[in-house]
Amino acid sequence: MGRFEHHLFVCENVRPAESPRGCCAAKGAGAVRAKLKERLEARGLKGLVRANGAGCLDQCAFGVVVVVYPEQVWYGGVTPADVDEIVDALAAGKVVERLRIPDAKLTGRAPLPPGACS
Ligand code: FES
Repeated sequence: MGRFEHHLFVCENVRPAESPRGCCAAKGAGAVRAKLKERLEARGLKGLVRANGAGCLDQCAFGVVVVVYPEQVWYGGVTPADVDEIVDALAAGKVVERLRIPDAKLTGRAPLPPGACS
């Protein structure tokens, strides 16, 4: 058995329709993940790249959100029509810049200096 080289985490979080934050599920996350799985298999990448469903990734304003690890590439506003481009870019070691959420807009905090995490 091997290990996955990449994970694509697709936010599939569900919130009530009246929630001001909205949710990726209501924006079509299920269809995005289903197409990712289908295209990864069609490209022979099954077993190397895994499309996982995830809870809220805390980038709700940008849904549907997909994050690629270990590259730490964050995509926002993803639709099924974007999936082929994302898979092609991943296979080529590239990034779909038009879908990338800029680091300055992500809700995480700046990383700690090396060795500062204890
Ligand atoms: S609901 Fe998808 S990132 Fe929060």
